[in-house]
This record gives sequence, structure tokens and C-alpha cells, in this order.
Amino acid sequence: MTAAALEVTDLVLALDERGGGARVVDGVSFAVQRGHALGIVGESGSGKSLTLRAVMALLPTGVRVEGGAVALGGEPLALGGRAARRERRGRVAMVFQDALSALDPVQTAGSQVAEVGRRVMGMSLSAAWERAVELLGLVGIREPARRARAYPHELSGGMRQRVMLAVALASEPDVLLCDEPTTALDVTVQAQVLELLDDLRQRLQLALVFVSHDLAVVRQLCDEVAVMYTGRVVETGATAPLLERPRHPYTLGLLNAVVDVDERGRVPRPIPGALPEPDRLPSGCSFHPRCELATEECTTTDPPLMAVDGEPGRRSACLHWERVATP
Ligand SMILES: Nc1ncnc2c1ncn2[C@@H]1O[C@H](COP(=O)(O)OP(=O)(O)O)[C@@H](O)[C@H]1O
Ligand code: SF4
Ligand SMILES: [Mg+2]
Repeated sequence: MTAAALEVTDLVLALDERGGGARVVDGVSFAVQRGHALGIVGESGSGKSLTLRAVMALLPTGVRVEGGAVALGGEPLALGGRAARRERRGRVAMVFQDALSALDPVQTAGSQVAEVGRRVMGMSLSAAWERAVELLGLVGIREPARRARAYPHELSGGMRQRVMLAVALASEPDVLLCDEPTTALDVTVQAQVLELLDDLRQRLQLALVFVSHDLAVVRQLCDEVAVMYTGRVVETGATAPLLERPRHPYTLGLLNAVVDVDERGRVPRPIPGALPEPDRLPSGCSFHPRCELATEECTTTDPPLMAVDGEPGRRSACLHWERVATP
């Protein structure tokens, strides 16, 4: 089998001493092949963004890598330091939730895309501009030659998100990381951007990692899902069986907290309680104070991710996975 386009193994991220040193990502592993899409889901604060940022070697100050490995096409990468960014250039790119703050307000859309062509691909100014217009067309911007001369504030939210995608694609990456790229968009525009991402994944054979708190979006776009809670993957597997028959109460909780359009009439049931702070994780299984299935054993045993159901790739970190109800 060929090496995965992206492989993350046992990633551990911790706050620095001033932040109290708590682990915010604790042993996260996943792999994505070219042309495939992995969805990472979980409540806000579960460690999704930091995981992607660690892959990009773009961690915010105050958060450091304590362990683990990241490999592209089987080749291990530096997790920090000056070499780290260079190693990723042209191989992995990221799209953020908020295009307005990710884009440079005083540069036109076209020049921000062209800048990547020049810097990463070593293109001439005119070739990079031509390519930028082409890419803006590829991401579905009509009249790209004219729009290339627009500044971010002159474009709609959906349009800006497409520009950021064009910036990411300009370096011709194998791996595209998307951090809630459609959350700030209205439903119609969101659907268009998702369709575009799916199309690009197929056409460019991208390995896509798509972070979202929205399971409906993940269902539509991803082959596989990793569910994160308190900095860990608590359930993973192929999308359809995982969402149809979750084997972790947290996954079931996320499913019950939303109602699909085709299930009108069902009442959404939020998960009781809140995600604990990283420095105050409950003993045993960190989900136990919020879990309907919790037993005495759950307060002392911290279950590892284990193979369940006999389905290839299906794993759950729940002691009582066999008792999880169907949504
Ligand atoms: N720069 C930072 N400094 C300190 N703590 C942070 C920083 N960024 C994130 N965290 C903490 O790390 C945890 C995971 O955050 P994050 O990866 O952003 O979660 P998600 O993307 O799933 O909402 C949260 O508890 C968050 O408060
Ligand atoms: S191990 Fe126990 S507390 Fe944790 S999710 Fe499973 S049943 Fe709930
Ligand atoms: Mg986030």
C-alpha cells in the first residue's frame, strides 16, 4: 500500500508553563490518502484547530508540540523551527474559517494568489498573474480577470472564501486542510463551497481534512470521520456506518444535538453539561460526567481507542460501546 498523503501519529500538544502546561491535544492519530476526505468533528474547544495548525507548523504562541509525528507521503516532517515551514511549502495548505482576517486587506485578490505563484512556484510576475486569474476561475469566481483586481472588502463572504481557497491551491498542494471554512457563510453559499471542495478533491486528487462541528456537512463531504473530545479521537471510521450506528456516546450526543432537514419534527437534544477545561479533565473517561451510560468503572478507567464492530478502521474509546443506542 502506498504511504498516506498525510499521516499524523500520536500528536501531543500542550500549553506552555504560563498556560498551566495542560495537554490540549493528547495522542491524536489519523491518515488520509490522496483523493480522500477525512472529517474531524467535535464541540468547540476539543482540539480540532490546534491539530490542523500543528500539521501546518503554525501553532499559536503558548502552545507547543510535546510529541508525535507528521508525515507527508511517508516522509516525516519537522514539527517546528525554520525548516518546518519550508518543508510544507507546495505540499500542504490550509483554509481558515474567517477569510476576512486571513486575507491581506490592502492587497487585491489576484495579487494574493499570484504572490504564492511567485514565492512558492518561482513564477514570473506575469505568469503568476495569469495563473492567479485561472485559479480564481477554477474556484468558481465569475469574471476572474476583473475580480482579480478587487480588494477583499469589495467581495462577498462566499467570494472571499473562494479567494482563500485559490491562495491555498496556488501552491499545488497534495493535502488541503480546511478549518470550518463554511461556518460563517449562509446556507446556500455554504452548499456551493462544499460542492466546489468535493469537485476539487476529485479533480486534483487532494487529500482533504475537513474540520467542522456540523455533522451534516461532514456526512456530505467525507469518506471517514474522526470524532474529537478533550483533545483526543474518541471514535473513528467510515462516515456512513459511524453516523448510522455510533459506537461512542459522544458521537450519538453530537448526532442528537442536531436535526437534519429531512427529519423535521424531531427535537434536537443538546449534550448535557459542557466540555471541561483542559487543566480540569475528569478522571477515567473524560466524558463520564456527561455520559448517560457511565458506570463506576468509567470514573477510574481511561479507555483507549479500540477496534469495535469488526468493521475495518472502526474504533471507539468507550468501555460500553456495545450499549450505545442508534440515533
Ligand atoms: N493560543 C492558545 N493559547 C492557549 N490555549 C489555547 C490556544 N488555542 C487554543 N487553546 C485551547 O486549546 C483547546 C483546543 O482549542 P482548539 O483546537 O481551538 O479547539 P477547536 O478548534 O476544536 O474548537 C481549547 O481548550 C482552547 O481553549
Ligand atoms: S467509557 Fe463510560 S463514560 Fe466514557 S463514553 Fe463510554 S460509557 Fe460513557
Ligand atoms: Mg476551531
